[in-house]
Amino acid sequence: MNNEYAIQKRRLGKTEIEITPIGLGVMQFAGGKGMFKMMFPDIPQEQKNLIIKTALDGGINWFDTAELYGRGRSERSLVEALKSLEVPDSEVIIGTKWFPMLRTARSIGQTIDKRLFYLDGYTIDLHMVHQPMGLSSRENEMDAMADLVDAGKIRFVGVSNFGPESMRRSHAALEKRGLPLAVNQVEYSLLRRNIETNGLLDTARELGVTIVAWGPLASGILSGKFHDPEVLAQAPTFRRRRLEPLLNRTPPLISILQEIAEKYQATAAQVALNWLIHFHGESVVAIPGASKVHQAQEAAAAMQFKLSSDEMERLDQVSREIQ
Ligand SMILES: NC(=O)c1ccc[n+]([C@@H]2O[C@H](COP(=O)([O-])OP(=O)(O)OC[C@H]3O[C@@H](n4cnc5c(N)ncnc54)[C@H](OP(=O)(O)O)[C@@H]3O)[C@@H](O)[C@H]2O)c1
Repeated sequence: MNNEYAIQKRRLGKTEIEITPIGLGVMQFAGGKGMFKMMFPDIPQEQKNLIIKTALDGGINWFDTAELYGRGRSERSLVEALKSLEVPDSEVIIGTKWFPMLRTARSIGQTIDKRLFYLDGYTIDLHMVHQPMGLSSRENEMDAMADLVDAGKIRFVGVSNFGPESMRRSHAALEKRGLPLAVNQVEYSLLRRNIETNGLLDTARELGVTIVAWGPLASGILSGKFHDPEVLAQAPTFRRRRLEPLLNRTPPLISILQEIAEKYQATAAQVALNWLIHFHGESVVAIPGASKVHQAQEAAAAMQFKLSSDEMERLDQVSREIQ
């Protein structure tokens, strides 16, 4: 890896929080149980500790988790790892999410103590509404979140999977309370680019809301590894079914990712992440998930170079051709 490029932190929306362009998603830490059994295997806590250590050693300063990820399992595993590494609260940024299905905004206040319990002394720097599907209005949800900021239980507020209109309404509701809407966490990758055309990216830029890209590797497809039938066969059934339809149209993109990767002594996955965090200036940050230590190492090291404009344009073009 050519390491000449220094990692530059970015502001999280219009907050005073500074984050690295790549954070680590820890949904994978919920694997092996409940609905996540169908997607990810159980990861031993020692391995989770090593994944977090590797991410931190590589410069990553923030982690994404959620209530939904095993109802506390992902949050707790993250914190166990941070505690085993003696990482002070002040050195790490944590985002979690409230899951709104069949719930009203009142449940935001009712569930916060559970989030704090699982995070066991670590601050909720960012609390997000996971989906725009709650029974209350977006405005009522933002009011409930603002109440938590006022009560000192969370620092900042974000949303996830919100379209341009819901995001604008959420932003306006928080503005009335004197707070910024920090992020909208949405699916975004070289294989999933609809936010560029549905108005979401433009609206986020206008409002100063950071786009946090989940699924930045399209579930790992962009690493190229699942094009090997033996690797694909080992993926849990539910994930395999999601990956299979993407295999036929992606080889032209994978081969360019691999070709560019050689120049940087990097991997295809790292080039895909690097494109995401630079193609739109500072507007987009990414949260790749890692179930293995080398994946956390690659995620962090993907911040240590910057693709040239020509390389970014080339990836842009090929990615458009295969959408
Ligand atoms: N807000 C939301 O609705 C939402 C939804 C989904 C996820 N998220 C968040 O976003 C994070 C990332 O999303 P995601 O996990 O769906 O997508 P992703 O980052 O595109 O895919 C992660 C998977 O890709 C594979 N991978 C990662 N790094 C790799 C590398 N360097 N080389 C080869 N394979 C690699 C791993 O697969 P294997 O485990 O098979 O090795 C890993 O589990 C989650 O952890 C979660 O925090 C948010």
